Amino acid sequence: MAELGVADQLTHGPLNAEELAARCGAHAPSLRRVLRELAGIGVVRPAGADRYALTEEGSALRSDVSGSIRSSMRMLGEESFWYAMGKMPDTVREGNSAFVARYGELYERLARHPDISLLFDDYMTARADAFTRGLVTRYEFTDVGTMVDVAGGKGSILATILRANPGMRGILFDLDHVVAHAGELLAAEGLADRSEVVAGSFFDSVPSGGDVYLLASVLHNWGDDDAVRILRNVRRAMKPDGRALILEVVLPDDAEPHLSKDLDLRMLAIFNGGSERSRQEYAKLFALADLELGEVVELGAGASLLQAEPI
Ligand SMILES: C[S@@+](CC[C@H](N)C(=O)[O-])C[C@H]1O[C@@H](n2cnc3c(N)ncnc32)[C@H](O)[C@@H]1O
Repeated sequence: MAELGVADQLTHGPLNAEELAARCGAHAPSLRRVLRELAGIGVVRPAGADRYALTEEGSALRSDVSGSIRSSMRMLGEESFWYAMGKMPDTVREGNSAFVARYGELYERLARHPDISLLFDDYMTARADAFTRGLVTRYEFTDVGTMVDVAGGKGSILATILRANPGMRGILFDLDHVVAHAGELLAAEGLADRSEVVAGSFFDSVPSGGDVYLLASVLHNWGDDDAVRILRNVRRAMKPDGRALILEVVLPDDAEPHLSKDLDLRMLAIFNGGSERSRQEYAKLFALADLELGEVVELGAGASLLQAEPI
């Protein structure tokens, strides 16, 4: 439903299976069978003979609604991500990602496939939305002059923070192909004069002079050695009174259900070395980069903001 854009096509009212198939580029008899199942799970509902309407639940699969899950669903169903979860038994048996064995390292794959890269960036943007709301309401940016968003993707988190803090400047840093059009996006948000886009790899260096360095959902993609390399480069670039803000889902020390435990399995499946970490594990990583764990702010939606200051 997400991939074919069924919800988008039903935005303006019910359609029959033939009409919907024509608009989605699908085979009508096959789509009709899918619609029957989708009605059973409540994301569409029958609206006359062979006609279907979108339900409120199904509206979350529209591209144009706030909190849309369409890009997330499309990315989770993308060939390589689907393969990774299907091959979990092999990954668990061998302790190495079956995804990496088949497709190579994720970010190298994305650099080779611009279409998947765009989808991934949209997925990150949608995913970050819930965390960003907590970030602007629960963290005090008033004394921050410049924030560097390290591996900030297309810059949606940075844009939200800059909009909420009119006195602040921002630098968006990510790989070349990811930030290629980020300047236009920031300009469209009216932020051209307060933002700068820098391309590069955090394994080489990150832009210097920031008061705050945000790393949102970055360290969990990497094993300890790589994570420490990234943190050391951040530490080197930071002003003496600067700080790093690490936004991650932190593993709690209990046996209750938590988003971090679920995401950790995705890290296991897709990255060699990537994992979610506990607060103590982050504190150890920080110490290896001459940083000290300070305040931890709960952002809601399962995410935490760990503040790290120079030792
Ligand atoms: C999980 S995404 C998080 C994106 C963004 N911070 C967010 O929360 O939406 C990780 C980001 O790391 C970037 N990245 C991967 N390798 C990198 C490298 N060597 N240098 C800089 N950025 C890199 C990716 O392009 C991607 O945008």
